[in-house]
Order: sequence, then C-alpha cells, then structure tokens
Amino acid sequence: MHQALAIAHPNIAFIKYWGNRDHMLRIPSNDSISMNLGGLTTRTQVTFESGLVNDRLTLDGIETSGNALSRVGALLERVRAMSGIQLFAHVQSENNFPSGTGIASSASAFAALSLASATAAGMQLEERDLSRLARTASGSACRSVPAGFVEWQAGMDHSSSFAVSIAPPSHWSLVDLVAIVSREHKCTGSYEGHQLANTSPLQACRLKDAPKRLEICRRAILDRDFEALAEVVELDSNMMHAVIMTSNPRLQYWQPATLAVMLEVSRWRKTGIPVCYTIDAGPNVHVLCESKHAGEISMQLTSLPGVLEILNSHPGGAARLESNPVDD
Ligand code: PMV
Repeated sequence: MHQALAIAHPNIAFIKYWGNRDHMLRIPSNDSISMNLGGLTTRTQVTFESGLVNDRLTLDGIETSGNALSRVGALLERVRAMSGIQLFAHVQSENNFPSGTGIASSASAFAALSLASATAAGMQLEERDLSRLARTASGSACRSVPAGFVEWQAGMDHSSSFAVSIAPPSHWSLVDLVAIVSREHKCTGSYEGHQLANTSPLQACRLKDAPKRLEICRRAILDRDFEALAEVVELDSNMMHAVIMTSNPRLQYWQPATLAVMLEVSRWRKTGIPVCYTIDAGPNVHVLCESKHAGEISMQLTSLPGVLEILNSHPGGAARLESNPVDD
C-alpha cells in the first residue's frame, strides 16, 4: 500500500520573507526566522492508487479542485519525478484550527504534504531535502519542516535554499496569541505579493538591513531576551508592510481593527508588559509574549473592539509521520 499520514504546524515569521530571487523555485531575496505554531495542526494522508486517472484532493472533508488542486498536483508531480512512482494520488487533509480565520495554512499544508507524499512514494528524505521540496510549493512551508525556532537560509539555488532548526520547541516558552479580526479570505495572495516586492523603492533598504535584523533576532532567541526580540520583530513586520503598501500596485493587508490591536500592544509594552506584535500577509495580529504573561494578555486582547477570537499557540515540533507522535 503506497500510503502515509503526516502532520505539521504553521509558523509565524519573526523576520519575514517577502520577495523572491527566483519565483518558480521560490528562492527568497532574504533569509528569514520563524517559530512553529504548536497546537495548530494540519494532518495529511496521501495514498497513491492504481485506479486513479487524476490526483484528488479532499480538504476538511470536501472534494476540492481549482488552484488548490493544481498546487498539490505540482508537488506530487515533483515527488513522482524524484521517486519514479507513476500513480496518481488521493490527498486528504484537515486543519484542527478553524478554516477561514486567515491563518496561513499553506505552510503546514505543504510541509505535511511533502512528508506524506515522499513517504507514500517509498522515499526516506532527509530533513533538508523535505524542506527544499516543501519550499517549491509555498516558500514559508520549508520552515514548517524542522522543529521549534527555525531559520531559512535563502541560498542561491534549489540545493542551497532550505530551513534548519536553531533551537528546539522546549528552548523558550513563548506564546503566540493570534488575534483574529477578520475571517475573510485575503484579496491578494502572497504569491502575487512576492512578485510585486521589487516594485517598492523600500525593498532594497529592507533587504540591505536584513542581515542585521537576522543577527539580532537569532541572538534574542538564543539568549531568551524578550525585549530585544520584541523590538526587532515589530521593526521587521513594519518594514515588510511598508514595502507592501508602497509596491506598484500598492497592497494593504491591515484593517482598522489590525491597527487598533497594534496600538494597544505598543501601549502595553510602554507600561512594562513584555509583549509585541507581528503581522503576516493578512489582517490578523500575532501577539507574542512569554507564557507567564499569556493569561492576562489574552484577557485584555479579548476585550478589544474588533477582536473576534484568539488562537493560542506555543513553539511546535517538526513535521512528522503520524506513527511518530511527539508531545506538543
Ligand atoms: O510562503 P508564502 O508564499 O505564503 O509567503 C509568506 C509570507 C509571509 O507570511 C508574509 C512572511 C513569512 O515569512 O512567512
């Protein structure tokens, strides 16, 4: 039976990926650093079957076609070329976090799909090869392959662009409280966004300064220095959104409630509460703090106007086969 079941977590970037050197292979313009979001999980089963005449995709129990199936099919095509298997596959995937909350599920989806499909096709890929494979489907998915706190080395080509773990999940009990302010699907996906990055006059400055931010962020994680992390994470998020807002055509992912949460979080930090925000290509706000402050901050977030729901997550493990569960 050519079947395997894998699970993976989404991740939140502390130092963001925005813009590619190579759009086809998703070789990014800068290195990035992220944390896997334990507690939020995608579970994907892949079965290569002799009776199929096409690849099939079932997402949260619903047979799916269109763009989602094309992206899955492209990754399966790569796996067929690598392994020599010639069968089509049925992919069944579920998220344990509410769908439509705007949480980027493509990272966990393609990390889980890479592991499940490679295993079902009879391959035992090393972590780096899995990370490379996941990257070709969604850049940030390469960071959901290794465990905990992860750095994606941009590299120059397919073989040099992959992610590695810089610290395990147990290293630091950070919490990501995701303040959901909209459940709408974003109007411009990140694939189009990455292609516009170089049209912003600010992208060159953002890239030039990236090695410094990466160094500060890496050091802050290794030293568990929340104050240093908070400053660089907010700076990096603001820099990415400055590029996004000044590209041609310009994009805008924030909504009024996004800004309301950002302002409150900044105000809390000024009063001495160790907390910071970061925002991906969507309106929801990731609010980071150490676990000892999470209860109080979560309560305060819930009371803000426009906050619909809070998802609570902690540093998560690597993408793994379901037969090898770990505690997170
Ligand atoms: O992997 P993509 O194409 O979904 O791009 C992710 C882009 C951001 O989430 C905005 C930043 C990041 O590094 O995750």
